[in-house]
Amino acid sequence: MDKLTIRDIVKMKNKRKIVAITAYDYPTAKIVDSAGVDLVLVGDSLGMVVLGYPSTLQVTMEEMIIHTKAVCNANPKAVVVTDMPFMSYEVDEKDALINASTFIRIGADAVKIEGGEEYKNIIKRLTNAGIPVMGHIGLTPQKHKQLGGYRLIGKAYREAKKVINDAIEVEDAGAFSIVIEYTAYEVAKKITEKLSIPTICIGSGPYCDGQIIVVNDILGLNDFQPPFARKYVDLREVIKKAVMNYKSDVLSGSFPDKYWGMKDGEKSKLEE
Ligand code: KIV
Repeated sequence: MDKLTIRDIVKMKNKRKIVAITAYDYPTAKIVDSAGVDLVLVGDSLGMVVLGYPSTLQVTMEEMIIHTKAVCNANPKAVVVTDMPFMSYEVDEKDALINASTFIRIGADAVKIEGGEEYKNIIKRLTNAGIPVMGHIGLTPQKHKQLGGYRLIGKAYREAKKVINDAIEVEDAGAFSIVIEYTAYEVAKKITEKLSIPTICIGSGPYCDGQIIVVNDILGLNDFQPPFARKYVDLREVIKKAVMNYKSDVLSGSFPDKYWGMKDGEKSKLEE
């Protein structure tokens, strides 16, 4: 299969569901890509699920660069999107352009920006410069302090209307697709029907053009599981058992059982 492009993702709308997942390192990117996903996101969720930070606010450009490089080194067929971390695009358009172009130079196919109408000009500036942008509306974790926590967005009409307006503005600004996070499903459905770009949902119900999930959540690697995640395997248990087996084999002397010696005639010299 050939490398998927942004255009391929856009064309999937109304044809089939788009399957997206996060990855933060080379081996995971290889594995999820071999499973045939359409889009791999180097999410700033990396701060919480890989780096042990309390939120995504602590994630830096330098960290996103290292993890984006690792994912791109896997040469995924899937489209690679990277998150613009907190304060890498909010200060001004020049900053946003320089930071986004860094991700594109190291191999990402697109960048993702959290926020709606207020980032219209920045999205326009990036897309005008040839940098594909994915929007992210609804629950935007980089603004969890302002939002009053990680809560379901759009339960009341006023907020629902704002999210729908954000979606329209983000599409207008030139985004090629949009993530709708933890938003009332009726709102996500309305947006999906209204927009001509694909919506990719997380915790916003099934009426979207695609779904995205944090890979660590489906693998059971986290202490904390968001309410909308589904655990397909308990890798914490699998890994723990493997390490315990290794420990007991080392202690019992049954590991290692493969080892290699010196050339004939050399061993006696060593003993002398
Ligand atoms: O950072 C991330 O993993 C994300 C997804 C939850 C969409 O933005």
